[in-house]
Amino acid sequence: MFRPLNPKHVFLCFLISFAFFIDPSSLQRLDDAKKKQMREKVREMFYHAYDNYMTYAFPHDELKPLTKSFTDSLSELGNLKLEHLPTDYSGSAVTLVESLSSLAILGNKTEFEKGIHWLSENLTFDIDARVNLFECNIRLLGGLISAHLLAIDPTNRLIQGSYNNQLLRLSEDLGKRFLPAFETPTGLPYAWINLKNGVMENETTETSTSGCGSLILEMGALSRLTGDPRFESAALRALRQLWRMRSSLDLLGTTLDVVTGKWLEYSSSIGAGVDSFYEYLLKAYILFGKEDYWRMFRSAYLASQKYFRHGPWYHEANMWSGKPTYWQLTSLQAFWPGLQVLVGDIAAANSSHREFFHVWERFGVLPERYLLDHQMIHPTEKYYPLRPELAESTFYLYQATKDPWYLDVGETMVKSLNLYTKVAGGFASVRDVTTMQLEDHQHSFFLAETCKYLYLLFDDSFVAKRNYIFTTEGHPIQVMSSWHEKLPESYFSGNWTFSKSGAWESRASALSMQVCPSIAPNSRRPEQHRESACHVPDEKMDHRCWSNKECGVDATTCRQRSCSGVGFCGLWNPL
Ligand SMILES: *[C@@H]1O[C@H](CO)[C@@H](O)[C@H](O)[C@H]1NC(C)=O
Ligand SMILES: *[C@@H]1O[C@H](CO)[C@@H](O)[C@H](O)[C@H]1NC(C)=O
Ligand SMILES: *[C@@H]1O[C@H](CO)[C@@H](O)[C@H](O)[C@H]1NC(C)=O
Ligand SMILES: *[C@@H]1O[C@H](CO)[C@@H](O)[C@H](O)[C@H]1NC(C)=O
Ligand SMILES: *[C@@H]1O[C@H](CO)[C@@H](O)[C@H](O)[C@H]1NC(C)=O
Repeated sequence: MFRPLNPKHVFLCFLISFAFFIDPSSLQRLDDAKKKQMREKVREMFYHAYDNYMTYAFPHDELKPLTKSFTDSLSELGNLKLEHLPTDYSGSAVTLVESLSSLAILGNKTEFEKGIHWLSENLTFDIDARVNLFECNIRLLGGLISAHLLAIDPTNRLIQGSYNNQLLRLSEDLGKRFLPAFETPTGLPYAWINLKNGVMENETTETSTSGCGSLILEMGALSRLTGDPRFESAALRALRQLWRMRSSLDLLGTTLDVVTGKWLEYSSSIGAGVDSFYEYLLKAYILFGKEDYWRMFRSAYLASQKYFRHGPWYHEANMWSGKPTYWQLTSLQAFWPGLQVLVGDIAAANSSHREFFHVWERFGVLPERYLLDHQMIHPTEKYYPLRPELAESTFYLYQATKDPWYLDVGETMVKSLNLYTKVAGGFASVRDVTTMQLEDHQHSFFLAETCKYLYLLFDDSFVAKRNYIFTTEGHPIQVMSSWHEKLPESYFSGNWTFSKSGAWESRASALSMQVCPSIAPNSRRPEQHRESACHVPDEKMDHRCWSNKECGVDATTCRQRSCSGVGFCGLWNPL
C-alpha cells in the first residue's frame, strides 16, 4: 500500500513554524495558515483521485483504484442485485461529469473547459442501458446542469473559448429520456428507466421515497433553463403525490409502489431511502421560493424531530404509529446536521454532528450502519464507501458558527482518508472498517462531494461570492431572483441578512435559513425571544392565534405549542 507522508510530521513542522508568533492576531493567522495548508491537502486528494480516473478509467464511469482499471457502473448504481445489466455499454464518463463543478471550485479552468469539450463531442445518452432514475438524476443531470450554470456565469470566467450551451443540450436530452418513467397512474416515477427504450416491460413498480422526492432541484432547474415546463411539472406532481401519501403524523414510509400508490415499507427515518426527500423540500423552497415547499418541509421536519429524534440520535419509526422500529445510525444520516444548519437549528445540528464524529473517531471512518441499542457495528454493513455526509455537515456547521473546532474535525477526516483509503491508483472504499480492508472502487461522489465539501470547509471563497444551494450530490446551483416567487432582491446579493416583510430581522441565506427571528424588534430583552433547538416560530409575531396550527414549536422542549382559550400560543400542557 502506498504510504503518504505522515501528516503528523507536516503538522508539527507547521506548528513549530508558527509558535513564534505572539501578537494578538497570531491565533487568527494560525487559523488562516492552517486552513490554507489543509485546503492544499484536499486539493492534492482531489487530483490524486481525478488524475488516476483520467489515466486508468476515463471515459468509463468509475475508477477501480486497486487494479488501476475501470467499471461501467452507471447501470449498477442502486442495482443491488445487478439485474438487467447491458451487454454493450462502455461508459458515460460519469466521474468526469461529477468532477466538473469541483474543478470549477478548485479554479481549474483549463480542465473544466477541456471536460466540457470532450462531453459535448462524445457524450451520448442514446444507450441501451437500464439506469436508476434517482442516481442518474443526481449524478448526471445534476452534474451537467451545475456545470452549465457555472460555465455561463460570467464572474467565474471559466471558459476561454466559446460555449454554446452544449451541457444544457445534453441535460435536455437526458431529461426527456426521464419523462416516460413518470407515466404511471399516480405520477410517481418508476425507479428504473432504459435511456434508449423507456420503461422496460415488467419493470418493478417498487421505489423509494427519496427516489420519487429528490428530482425537483435538477428537473426544476432544467425547466427554468430550457423553458420546457414538463420536467418541473413531472417532478412536482410526483412530490405532491408523495406528500398526499403521508400518514396523519406527517411521516412517510421508505418504499412504495408507483402504480398502486401504496406503501410497502412503513418504517421510516431520515436515512437511506428517505433522506434527500427532506433535503429537497427545503432546498426547493430556497431555490424556487414557493411557499408550498416550505409548508411541506416544515411539517415533515417537525414530524422528524418528534418521532425520530432521541437526544442527538435519530432512530427509525413506524409511519402510522410513530413507534420506534430500528435503533440504528446510518452513515447517510450524517447529512442531517447540514440540513439543520439551513433551517437555523444550529444547536441540534451541533449535538448530532458531535455524536457522528465520535463514531468516526472510534472507527477511523464512519461505518455504514451502527446499532445504537447494542453500541456495536452492524454485522454485515461494516463498509465505508468514501461517503461525504459528515464532511458536508462539518462544512455547514463551520459556515454557521466559525467555531475552529470544525476545522479540526475536517483535519481528522482528511488524515483518516489519506491514511486508510489512499492507494497508488486513487482512493479506495473501505470494505470493513474494523479491519480497514479495502474494496476496488472509487465512487464518483468522492470527487463530487467528499473532496468538495472538505475543500469548501477550508476555503469558502466560492460560496462567499454568491448564494448557492448544493444538490444532494454536492453540485452547486445558484440561487437566482429570476427563479423566485417570494424572497426580496437583497437575499441574492450575498449579504446574509435581510428583513423578511419588515416584521423581524432574521439571518437567512442558502447557508443559514433561520426560520426563527433571531432578534425581535423593539424588544429590550431580545434573548427572551430567541428560539433555538426545534426552532419554529408562531405564525404571528405577537403570538396571537385562532388555532393550534398557527403555533410553532417550543425551542427547548421541541414540543408543539398550542393555542389557549384566550388566543395565545404557548406550552399550555406540560408533559
Ligand atoms: C488542472 O488539472 C489538470 C489535470 O489534473 C492539471 O494537469 C493542471 O495542472 C490543473 N491546473 C491547475 C491550474 O490546477
Ligand atoms: C471525443 O472522443 C474521441 C475518441 O476518444 C477523441 O479522439 C476526441 O478528441 C474527443 N473529443 C474531444 C473534444 O475531446
Ligand atoms: C412479463 O411477465 C409475464 C407474466 O409473468 C410473462 O409472461 C412475460 O413473458 C414477461 N415478459 C418479459 C419481457 O419478461
Ligand atoms: C456545540 O456543542 C459543544 C459541546 O456541547 C459546545 O461546547 C459548543 O458551544 C456548541 N456549539 C454551538 C454552536 O452550539
Ligand atoms: C449587509 O447588510 C448590512 C445591513 O444592511 C450592511 O451594514 C452591510 O454593509 C452589508 N454587507 C455587505 C457585504 O453588503
